[in-house]
Amino acid sequence: MMDRLADSIMPRLVEPTQDAIAEASRLLERGQLVVFPTETVYGLGADTTNAKAIELIYALKGRPADNPLIAHVLDDVQARRIVAKWDDRCAVLSEHFWPGPLTLVVARGETVGPSATAGLDTIAVRAPRHVVARALLHAFGRSISAPSANRSGRVSPTTAGHVVADFPEADELLVLDGGACEIGIESTVLELTEPTPRVLRLGAITVERLREVLGEVDAPPVTTQLASPGTSLWHYAPRTPAELVETTQLARRLAGGAPAAVLCFEPAGVKPPHVPVPMPQSAEPYAARLYDALRTADATGVSRIIIEQPPETHGPWAAIHDRLRRATGHADRDGNDQ
Ligand code: TXA
Ligand code: MG
Repeated sequence: MMDRLADSIMPRLVEPTQDAIAEASRLLERGQLVVFPTETVYGLGADTTNAKAIELIYALKGRPADNPLIAHVLDDVQARRIVAKWDDRCAVLSEHFWPGPLTLVVARGETVGPSATAGLDTIAVRAPRHVVARALLHAFGRSISAPSANRSGRVSPTTAGHVVADFPEADELLVLDGGACEIGIESTVLELTEPTPRVLRLGAITVERLREVLGEVDAPPVTTQLASPGTSLWHYAPRTPAELVETTQLARRLAGGAPAAVLCFEPAGVKPPHVPVPMPQSAEPYAARLYDALRTADATGVSRIIIEQPPETHGPWAAIHDRLRRATGHADRDGNDQ
């Protein structure tokens, strides 16, 4: 948690007290933006029904206008108010996974204008489980549209400090400081507009778990194959060039090369001038640590980041591999998140 520096221009970090949540709700009501924690990452929220407020989100983030937003809801009752149809699959998924890190893409209801979905006739809905997000949704009483609260192209924020780092001059932007996010990577996005559900973004709700509940689910293949240098189509984040390296190749990549910040499992093996950034061995803590580690690595000032490739690829590791590929420029533009 951070204290606000007196009289400086910066976002307004506050403890998420009842009063602060009531104030946040009033700001949303007036068409202003509010940053709130979720269990995945921090969100930059606006009233789903207020087109001007939605525009402010795109302007502040520098987000391309064709990238739609997730509408956050308290539960399936609120979700039903903004979608055209809530079918059996939605009912069973919300029963199993809400509140939690699963976003459902379904036909948009008539109560929501196209600005909240970048003009699409579908809408993404998710009920977050973070207590502060839920308190805010309860106080506001209807849906809050929110992308991750980062500048477009940067990694998502998992602490209030990350939000301030990305928007240092967003004077008076209210940030409800809920500490570090528990999950640390963005929600699983599942499209339900076709007969076969399709995973658009991997997340903490694994494809395996979705298949247990739904049966057939299309999902992107998990690949650890590294693109050849120069073939990356889209450099995403962090700012420092990042490279994914297998454990067996790590020593060779470090030897003689320029100083690197190294996200690694065995920090003792990374000697000066390289800087180790220790990572947990198991998937959940690894995901929770990842974006802060990338920002930490960026802040060391070295000219390259090396990420030791986690050996496992299945279950919860699939979403981590997806994010590592994006961080190292191996994901194409279509798969990018802003
Ligand atoms: O965990 C999360 O999902 C976080 C927290 C704040 O809830 N939010 C988040 O939002 O990551 P954002 O905007 O950074 O990513 C939303 C993703 C994007 O990949 C977007 O393209 C996709 O959801 N999306 C949103 N609406 C969609 C739609 N109607 N059809 C297809 N994809 C959609
Ligand atoms: Mg994002």
